[in-house]
Amino acid sequence: MSLDTFPIRRVDHVRFYVNNARQSAYYYKNAFGFDIVGFCGLETGQQNEVDYVVQQGDVRFVFSAPIRPGHEMGRLIGEHGDFVQDISFEVDDVDEAFKKAVDRGARPAREPFTLSDENGEVRLASIHTYGEVIHTFINRDNFKGRFLPNFKDMDEKGVPIGLKDVDHIVGNVELGKMNYWVDFYANVLGFEQIISFDDQDISTDYTALMSKVMANGNQKVKFPINEPAEGKKKSQIDEYLEFFGGAGVQHVALLTDDIVKTVTELRNRGVLFLHVPMTYYEEVPERVGAIDEDLETLAGLGILIDRDDEGYLLQLFTKPITDRPTLFYEIIQRKGAKSFGKGNFKALFEAIEREQELRGTL
Ligand code: FE2
Repeated sequence: MSLDTFPIRRVDHVRFYVNNARQSAYYYKNAFGFDIVGFCGLETGQQNEVDYVVQQGDVRFVFSAPIRPGHEMGRLIGEHGDFVQDISFEVDDVDEAFKKAVDRGARPAREPFTLSDENGEVRLASIHTYGEVIHTFINRDNFKGRFLPNFKDMDEKGVPIGLKDVDHIVGNVELGKMNYWVDFYANVLGFEQIISFDDQDISTDYTALMSKVMANGNQKVKFPINEPAEGKKKSQIDEYLEFFGGAGVQHVALLTDDIVKTVTELRNRGVLFLHVPMTYYEEVPERVGAIDEDLETLAGLGILIDRDDEGYLLQLFTKPITDRPTLFYEIIQRKGAKSFGKGNFKALFEAIEREQELRGTL
C-alpha cells in the first residue's frame, strides 16, 4: 500500500435531500431502528429548511427538506426525487483537505467556514463529485455537541437492528464516465482501485454493467462506481439514470455483525428485499465453501453469500425505498472478506431484472 496522500478518517454522515424530512426520520426510526438524535428548523432559528439527524452505531444520516416555495432544494428534489446529496468525510484538517482537493482539480462547492455555538465549533468545506452529490469535509474535534452547532438534541429512540457502520456507497454514472470518476477519486482524493468487474463478470442474458471499486487510504471508505454496458435490453444502470435524471448514489451498504438478526427484523418491520430464487442456494456450497451460518436460514431470508481471497461475505438488497426505481440499501456482514466477490452479481441482476420487467423498464 502506497502513502496515503489524502487522509480521511471515515464517512461522517450521509445527507439526503427529501420532500418531507419528518416522515423520512420516522421511516428510518421505525423500519431501520435509527434513533432520531437532532433537529434544526424554524424552532432553532433556521428559516428555510429543516434537518433531522438519525443515528445507529456509527451510521449517521441527515434528512434535509425545504420548507418554503422557490427553494433550490425543492427544485433538485423535483428533478431527482429524494436523493443522497452529500457524503461527508471526517478529516483532520478541513482547510488543508479542501485546498489539496481543489489544487488537484476538484470543483469547489463551499469554501471553508466555521459553525459555532456554546458547545464549540465545527469547520466545514465541500467539493463537488458526480451528479448533484458533494463531499463535505468536516472536523468537530473542538465541538462537544452531537452533530453540528445550532441543532437541538432529540431523543426519540428506535429499536436497533444491529447496524454498525456504512460499508460502502455506490455511484451510478453515465455511459463512458466510470473511468473519469475512478480517476477523480484516485487523483483528487488519493483513493486506490481495489477491484474491477467488467461486463463479462457482470452480465446476464439481457443486460450488463461495469464497476470499479475505489477505497481510501485506511480502507474505511469504499466507493464502487458503476456505468452501464451494452446489452440486449436496458440495464439497471440505464433505468437508474433515466428515472433519476443523471448520475447519483444507487445504494448505501450498511454493515452488521449479525445479518440473520438484522434482516429478520427488517422483514418483520415491512422492509422489502429483492427475491432470490431457491436455485441460487444449490450452488453455494461449491462456490463459497464452508460457512458458519445455516444455509437454510440464509435461504429463508434471501441472504446472498459470496467470497473473495480472504474470506466470505453475506449480503442482500432491498427493493428501492423511493417511489422512483433509484435508491436502495444493502445489508452486509463480512466474515473475513474485505472486498467484493463476483458470484452474487448474476443472481442480483437477474433479481433486479425481474423487478424491471414488472415495471416495464427492462
Ligand atoms: Fe453494494
